[in-house]
Amino acid sequence: MDLDADVTAAALRAALVKGLQHSGRITSAPVAAAFEAVGRHLFVPGVPLEDAYRDDVVFTKRDVDGSPLSSVSAPWLVATMLERLEARPGDRVLEIGSGGYNAALLRHLVGAGGSVTSQDIDPEVIGRAGRCLAAAGCGDVRLVTGDGTLGVPDGAPFDRVEVTVQATSVAPAWLEQLAGDGRLVVPLRLRGMGRLLTFTREGDDWVGGGWDQCGFVRMRGPGAVDPVVTARPAEGVRLRWDGGPPPHGEALAAALSGVRREVWTGVTVGPSEGTRPVVDLWLATVLEVFGRLHATADAQARVGLRTLPGGSPATWSGDSLAYLAMRPAGSGGSRFEYGVVAHGGDGTVAGEFARQLRSWDRDQRGGPGPVLRVYPQGAPDVRPAVGRVLERPGPPMLLTWP
Ligand SMILES: C[S@@+](CC[C@H](N)C(=O)[O-])C[C@H]1O[C@@H](n2cnc3c(N)ncnc32)[C@H](O)[C@@H]1O
Repeated sequence: MDLDADVTAAALRAALVKGLQHSGRITSAPVAAAFEAVGRHLFVPGVPLEDAYRDDVVFTKRDVDGSPLSSVSAPWLVATMLERLEARPGDRVLEIGSGGYNAALLRHLVGAGGSVTSQDIDPEVIGRAGRCLAAAGCGDVRLVTGDGTLGVPDGAPFDRVEVTVQATSVAPAWLEQLAGDGRLVVPLRLRGMGRLLTFTREGDDWVGGGWDQCGFVRMRGPGAVDPVVTARPAEGVRLRWDGGPPPHGEALAAALSGVRREVWTGVTVGPSEGTRPVVDLWLATVLEVFGRLHATADAQARVGLRTLPGGSPATWSGDSLAYLAMRPAGSGGSRFEYGVVAHGGDGTVAGEFARQLRSWDRDQRGGPGPVLRVYPQGAPDVRPAVGRVLERPGPPMLLTWP
């Protein structure tokens, strides 16, 4: 690269860092310094400089059907994960899911006294990452081809494990290979929702929080489980759920052509309160039957749906379907009110849904939020007042609210 291009890359990098600080994604000096030092363009060769420094994902490999298999993750997500990971100088870090860029940032964060191991199931990804890391002067990152759910036992113990591929459970190997005061950052799909969890040890168990919304390339290989199922009860309408009882297809279709009700709760929120992610998690905990309802604009108009961006938390029973909705609260103001739209049935499902929204408002609003507990030795019999066991392979996981 010539001198002019180097100068342009440095300027674009500085602007990216500024933007990530402004949006609150970079909050610490070490992460800012790593982003300033490592050239992202070196990990996306062939991509124009302006695009290399855009705050967006760059897909580097796709499946035959076009779905992404590998990528260099979006800077906002990379920054969020590094802030959660808190890698310190001298740390030994394991990154699961490779691409090169994040490994180079980690290399910068842990310094000469630390080490970075980056593992990917795909030898092509490892080959590509190796070439890019060498070009960036990070040839000492250890690259391992293998299934990330097994980790890298001969490199353990690690101070930090960062998983950069969508998982549905916490692999026992990640916990076994972590040092006593270690930290695990992992994007988990829980009841159909992608959330970034940060775990630390508490006695024999691991306690996770953070709950940043995120989406990732799906995991491949023997440890991959994708429990999300989709029903299409009408054209342009999708109901997605992750485990639990499936809806009866005909009953769902009947619900959509049944009586339509709206129940408004009086629970109002300000425009920048950002309660949606936590309300979604609350509903995913307290509703026995839970999924997400998505509808195209055309289907909204045709069927009379008013689903929310990203899909509305939904529940169903027999020929009733109910889901979360919002409407402007009062006239001219900027507040919104939570409510429920229900189709079919006698209104019981909608009533229970609305009751749960009011109890979030009364008991949880403004509180510390949920905790995800992972029990490598098996879950104790004691159950919290509000909690849900997440059924999946691997160590038991319990979603609890204070
Ligand atoms: C989002 S990319 C990783 C991005 C990367 N950390 C970066 O620097 O931006 C996810 C990677 O996970 C890999 N992957 C998928 N399943 C895996 C598994 N079971 N074990 C290890 N890697 C896996 C994919 O091949 C893909 O390269």
